[in-house]
Amino acid sequence: MKNKYLYIATFGCQMNVHDSEQMAALMKESGYQPTEYPGKADLILFNTCSIREKAEQKAFSELGRILRFKKRHPKLIIGFGGCLAQHLGAHVFHRAGEVDFVFGTHNIHLLPEMVAVVEKNRQRITQTDFHKILPSANIFAPPQKGSVSCFVTIMQGCNNFCAYCVVPYLRGPEMSRTPQKIIEEIKRLTDYGIKEVTLLGQNVNSYGKTQEGQINFAALIKKVGQVDGIERIRFTTSHPKDLSEELINCFAEEKKLCEHIHLPVQSGSNKVLELMNRGYTVEDYLEKVARLRQVCPRISITSDIIVGFPQESEKDYQETIDMMGKIRFDSVFSFKYSERKGTAAQKLEGKVEEAEKLRRLKALQSMQDEYTLQKNKQLEGSTQEILVEATSKNSESDMMGRTRSWKIVNFKGNHALAGMLVEAKITRAYLHSLRGEIN
Ligand code: SAH
Ligand code: SF4
Ligand code: F3S
Repeated sequence: MKNKYLYIATFGCQMNVHDSEQMAALMKESGYQPTEYPGKADLILFNTCSIREKAEQKAFSELGRILRFKKRHPKLIIGFGGCLAQHLGAHVFHRAGEVDFVFGTHNIHLLPEMVAVVEKNRQRITQTDFHKILPSANIFAPPQKGSVSCFVTIMQGCNNFCAYCVVPYLRGPEMSRTPQKIIEEIKRLTDYGIKEVTLLGQNVNSYGKTQEGQINFAALIKKVGQVDGIERIRFTTSHPKDLSEELINCFAEEKKLCEHIHLPVQSGSNKVLELMNRGYTVEDYLEKVARLRQVCPRISITSDIIVGFPQESEKDYQETIDMMGKIRFDSVFSFKYSERKGTAAQKLEGKVEEAEKLRRLKALQSMQDEYTLQKNKQLEGSTQEILVEATSKNSESDMMGRTRSWKIVNFKGNHALAGMLVEAKITRAYLHSLRGEIN
């Protein structure tokens, strides 16, 4: 039988990246080998995102680019999945008639079946039902050859309903996986040489709350810490309102837990935070940051910020700027507010003009760039533990790895170092990376 090839176009967050890995693993069992070239593929899967309007536009423009391959290869099958697929359902066919099937976020497990039906009958299919227990939760995706770091999903969905956000509608309610399944998967990953795991969920610190008799997130971290072969533990994303004292203490107590937390603050104005339904005040947030730094002085703190949320005045925006000056995050992902259909914020009055949002975003980003560079400069001359990942993007003779604080370090070295923990002296700091030397 002729080899069949699968190309996956992935958009969106780490959750989607991980889902794509599961899709590849499933389809491999049905005889589809992965390829990096869409022109070579017999099956193309879109794993889409709907978080902001731009993410949707990106998916459709990539789809437009891919459609020319269908002209050349009429048997090519195109599947449209992920959060945007969950949102649009069968409407995807109206926007892109060349798509063969649509699958939502809870239906990854149905992929082989759907592809088989399309191969046979060439009929259009849509599967966007939600399930009480996520059927794809335990699909094992073997890590790529040579990789040292992996995501492990510990929970799915979200119950928070932040006013701007579509995720609870598109990923369904919060569901935690059992600790047994999680540990089993991590042990299996160590057999492939994985040394670092990132525990993944929309709101990892409410892990366990949705199932009776489960352990909490801090206890889960300690359990993961006992797995032989795992040297580093990370997690993402945590919600400030659920960041417990017990979890903060893990940064001192659990040696394998890396000194980095991504803790999205979204705004520095209490008025805006309330409108966003975030469930904490700026003062609460500052207190949590102070506690984190008390318990773990080396901790790196990164965040997400939205500018131009409805009714955000110049004063509210300035409060965000002031807060950033007080906290000095290691880095920040910042976004212009993007209106999403069906969310609570869509109904709010007082929308901010696009040009004004852009002005606020640019000013905030250039200020944060200065802070990020200052933070990185503080590491010059220090020695950092690095988990070596791969050859550097910049130069064939360089390797790259990450510090425990999640910063990229490039250094002279050969490929044999991949997967090893090394000590590097930081010789130079830049905005997006560090330069180091190993002995
Ligand atoms: N569950 C995570 C990540 C959610 S999406 C969390 O709660 O932090 C990642 C980021 O996208 C969010 O933190 C937020 O800053 C941003 N975001 C979400 N919806 C948005 C919208 N409608 N417009 C602009 N940014 C948005
Ligand atoms: Fe969206 Fe809020 Fe849930 Fe994060 S916590 S996924 S921002 S609703
Ligand atoms: Fe996008 Fe869905 Fe993730 S909307 S950010 S891919 S959860």
